[in-house]
Amino acid sequence: MAILKIARMGHPVLMGTAQPVEDPKDPRIHGLIADMVETMADAPGIGLAAPQVHVPLRIVVFRVPGERCEDKKDVPLTVLVNPVIEVIGDEVEEGWEGCLSLPEMTGRVPRAVHIRYRAQGLDGKTFEREAKGYHARVVQHECDHLDGILYPMRMTDLSTFGFAEEMARAPRTIMADESDSEDGEAA
Ligand code: NI
Repeated sequence: MAILKIARMGHPVLMGTAQPVEDPKDPRIHGLIADMVETMADAPGIGLAAPQVHVPLRIVVFRVPGERCEDKKDVPLTVLVNPVIEVIGDEVEEGWEGCLSLPEMTGRVPRAVHIRYRAQGLDGKTFEREAKGYHARVVQHECDHLDGILYPMRMTDLSTFGFAEEMARAPRTIMADESDSEDGEAA
């Protein structure tokens, strides 16, 4: 296992389309995923996509803490190989996001509230889950990395984009109308 170097915004590996994984059971893929999990824990972050560690493959790892979820249940460590997202309904909400590839930055990003996602696991078998709210946000953020999209490219109001430390100084009146005024966690 190893802690991998994380690519920052501007690096070409973050801007391209990642390639599908042919065999999720390949031990080299399992080795990469183990390193991604270790890198995510070290950062620390709640999600990481393979292009962020300079590997242009369609792999995502994430873990959502229960306090961020409506039902307060943790989403355990999840590995998505070749994930596909389907949006359910047309509800969109804004929330704070951060990204390990844009250290110290945060911004408000509109995302679909309700999704279904399908992916292969480490055993190569396809599984499917529905997700809402923060869980759905994390999956959308991570899967965007596989298509060269970073969260500022999804933002509609760049006045909410900035250094998290500076934005925490903002008078609460600016943030107080937000239902989720916690800073975005790096993903
Ligand atoms: Ni990210």
